[in-house]
Amino acid sequence: MESKYNIGNSKTGTLPKFQMKLKPNPIIFSNKNLPSSPKKIKLSEPEHKKVIISSNNSNFHNKPKISIQEQRRKLPVFDKRNKLLELIKRHKTLIILGETGSGKTTQIPQYINSARLQENGIIAVTQPRRVAAISVALRVAQEYGQGMSVGDVVGYTVRFEDVTSKKTKIKYLTDGMLLREAMFDRLLMEYTVVILDEAHERTIHTDVLFGIVKKAQRIREERNLASLKIIIMSATMDVDHFSRYFNNCQAVYLEGRTYPVNVFYTVKPHDDYQASCVATFFKIHKEAPPKLLAKDPDVQGPPIKVCTLYAAQPGTQQMTVFQPSQPNTRKVVISTNIAETSVTITGIKYVIDSGMVKARSFHPATGLELLKVQRISQEQAWQRTGRAGRDSEGYCYRIYTRSQFELMKKTSIPEIQRANLNTVALQLLALGIHGLHFDFMDKPPKEAILAAFEQLKLLGAVENMDSNNLSPLGRKMAKFPLDPRFSKILLSAQQFGCLEETLTVIALLSSESILLSPPSKRDQAQNVRQKFCSAYGDHITLLNIYREFNNVGQNNRRLWCHEHFINMRNILHAREVRNQLEDICKKCDISISSCGSQMDQLRKCLLTGLFTNVAELHRDRHYITLDRRQVVQIHPSSSLYGQQPHFVLFTEVVQTSKCYLRSLTTVESDWLYEIAPEYLKIRNIRFNKDS
Ligand code: CDP
Ligand code: MG
Repeated sequence: MESKYNIGNSKTGTLPKFQMKLKPNPIIFSNKNLPSSPKKIKLSEPEHKKVIISSNNSNFHNKPKISIQEQRRKLPVFDKRNKLLELIKRHKTLIILGETGSGKTTQIPQYINSARLQENGIIAVTQPRRVAAISVALRVAQEYGQGMSVGDVVGYTVRFEDVTSKKTKIKYLTDGMLLREAMFDRLLMEYTVVILDEAHERTIHTDVLFGIVKKAQRIREERNLASLKIIIMSATMDVDHFSRYFNNCQAVYLEGRTYPVNVFYTVKPHDDYQASCVATFFKIHKEAPPKLLAKDPDVQGPPIKVCTLYAAQPGTQQMTVFQPSQPNTRKVVISTNIAETSVTITGIKYVIDSGMVKARSFHPATGLELLKVQRISQEQAWQRTGRAGRDSEGYCYRIYTRSQFELMKKTSIPEIQRANLNTVALQLLALGIHGLHFDFMDKPPKEAILAAFEQLKLLGAVENMDSNNLSPLGRKMAKFPLDPRFSKILLSAQQFGCLEETLTVIALLSSESILLSPPSKRDQAQNVRQKFCSAYGDHITLLNIYREFNNVGQNNRRLWCHEHFINMRNILHAREVRNQLEDICKKCDISISSCGSQMDQLRKCLLTGLFTNVAELHRDRHYITLDRRQVVQIHPSSSLYGQQPHFVLFTEVVQTSKCYLRSLTTVESDWLYEIAPEYLKIRNIRFNKDS
């Protein structure tokens, strides 16, 4: 949901009344009276908007430029360097806690490397987000200096991108990538140190890695192989819970430098938190002391520079957040939860916390995995607040009441307990482990594991529900870094003679959206892309766009993308992804084929993986999912919106006030008899015409 408010018009939105005005007797919390050991946090991307206002950066400008090495020495972690190295040397497993920005991610791997604690192995550092893995690796390579570029001593590996070499000693990688590597070598012998960073985020991948590295460490010890050191790093977390899981390992706390933050709650609840955030921003902007800003009597407050920060954003745009603004300009950062802990922006003085987050959740009962806006946990609220106190005393405006805060969950639920486990179940089976018997730190609900096994069985990946054995098809499916439903589609393409088309569609579904829809030009974008629209729906519309893009000459691409509101970076990325998937297909001996304009072939092929994602037209625009009889609707952004095909296959579900399906293709019910007869029987699905 994009904000419909036009920043720049202070009349929009209702201004919430805060319990406290800007100054008198604020509740001050500082590092000391922060909840002592806030419990585990789980966030997932993409998350909901919150607003961060950075103070005027003129201070920043007046500071003499300090060298990058000087900057490293100023980080809180620097003083603790020797002590840390000693602890790392002494303990085979260590938990390191420290405020965001204290230097954990960038410095600790470098310290280990300079002391050669990793000996002949490589240091792996995992990040839940690909942006973080890439940007941190770039930064560390730069700190390394000596003409080193990323990919030398410091490298990174994220899905579909490997920037490492034989020289690489410190490797930043997404947690998903390390998990894939474990599928090829369960003991992770390439590494002697594994750092699981941002552990408090409790992504599924990090949670599974906890078990994998713990086991690898034990087995390597038993077999007298090179030992494996495990370091768990995090902003805040339930240390006891983590320590207990890792055989009561040692934990250290790096004290950061933080300043007090004044916290304000609203007097009454505000349902329209977006409007309230915007209104609060303008109040602060007008009233807050402009500090060193030159006062212009004609301007109510200083000029504003608005930046956005979210995981799916193009990298160059993301970087603008870190650039200092012009003198006398106030910088406003509108961010998702990515700014909560994984990135550090300097100069933040005010935080406006919407209290909301967009998170993924899976409901075994409905079989749907939803993206849903929901309340944050108290722990997340404190993290957001903390962003205001990095450089000096700050202010945090919570767009919720104190009693709403008290009703929030203390900690967030780990993703593993609320997400679809298909991919994890398949990955574990590839490691020879049945999900029900895995050593999870927090066990996922049994129904979710069983639902995943059922799905794998229906896809033909396992022989039976209790077995640890993958079928030959399942073993091939595990080779793809994809949801098993998508791998199944690629592996079925030969049968339908449509590998070319299938590769394109799956690559596009695995990348960020290639469609740009700026709110002010939405109609224009839709009109100019109308010619690509397929009556079969969104997947084929995307295929048409991709085909056309490939026909445009190299020199005209930028202009073509601009004219058609296509994100060029994302479409080029999708092409890379496509190449890599094609390589894996070749290794699986699937021959290249094209169905040309025979779209039925492609539609049937999509159904071989996504037969559990079909909805049937019920009445007046309402659809019902075949799988669990859930009422849903076609999302207005779909090319099928306004039409009423009998059956649609969907790849995404979004819940706002209603449950919407996005990314659709029309299918025929007859095909289901052909493609998934066993599934129809198990669910007892019959179509109207049968009755
Ligand atoms: O991991 P932690 O939050 O403790 O800190 P870090 O990511 O190691 O960041 C330490 C400092 O490095 C930040 O305060 C930034 O000044 C700097 N940094 C940067 O300039 N660019 C990055 N991509 C990452 C960090
Ligand atoms: Mg970090």
